[in-house]
Amino acid sequence: MTTPRTVLVTGGNRGIGRAIAEELVAQGHRVAVTARSGQGPEGTMTVVADVTDSASVDAAFTAVEAELGPVEVVVANAGITKDGLLMRMTEEDFTSVVDTNLGGAFRVVKRASKGMLKARFGRIVLVSSVVGLYGGPGQVNYASSKAALVGFARSLTREVGARGITANVVAPGFIETDMTAVLPDEQQAEYRRTIPAQRFGTAGEVAKTIAWLSSDDAAYISGAVIPVDGGLGMGH
Ligand SMILES: NC(=O)c1ccc[n+]([C@@H]2O[C@H](COP(=O)([O-])OP(=O)(O)OC[C@H]3O[C@@H](n4cnc5c(N)ncnc54)[C@H](OP(=O)(O)O)[C@@H]3O)[C@@H](O)[C@H]2O)c1
Repeated sequence: MTTPRTVLVTGGNRGIGRAIAEELVAQGHRVAVTARSGQGPEGTMTVVADVTDSASVDAAFTAVEAELGPVEVVVANAGITKDGLLMRMTEEDFTSVVDTNLGGAFRVVKRASKGMLKARFGRIVLVSSVVGLYGGPGQVNYASSKAALVGFARSLTREVGARGITANVVAPGFIETDMTAVLPDEQQAEYRRTIPAQRFGTAGEVAKTIAWLSSDDAAYISGAVIPVDGGLGMGH
């Protein structure tokens, strides 16, 4: 059993974020999710927020704090891809992905850190990707945004590590969600061949890792990059 915490997961209406919210509810936490549309899973509080807009992030936190108390665990999960080869990538394709994946994490974690510093407790988990350190053709924008989360978590660890706050990165490999369902079958088969586990992961497998990082047992782990990728990134 771990201490029940107030948790906020961004992008908790579907995919990996939804599985994270489900797992944290199952482990007895008070869980809120942000969604631009739809709802979080049963047992969660849903707040509307767009992570590219700091006023909407602020309003979401204020609503959660009023209902569930100060946010003690934050999972910056919301993310997008806009793949394309560099020569054809528009500036908008680049900036919008970086602004959502990296800028979004900045806005959410900055807002969460206020209450965490006051409480002298916090768990910050940034959802990156194996692609951040491994690279991916057509993913200069996405890989840059995800690699940057490592520097983010490590700098933050140095800033707030003495205040009972941890900041870690989880780097999923290929996980069965809407994001990977759009890849052509041939490409999916090719990826499967390169993964030592020879399969895609499930959102539940990522969720279990994040729940553990949020638990009392992970108090001395910070600035780490934890892969959940079937061995694809070989520990990176
Ligand atoms: N699937 C994979 O193989 C994989 C691998 C490595 C890393 N990841 C990372 O894991 C995270 C979740 O991915 P997923 O596969 O679950 O993706 P997904 O099924 O496409 O879901 C993405 C989630 O992010 C939300 N979101 C996107 N832009 C947002 C914004 N501006 N403001 C608020 N919410 C926003 C979406 O909300 P809406 O429903 O409103 O669009 C949705 O809830 C992402 O950061 C992704 O990069 C995924």
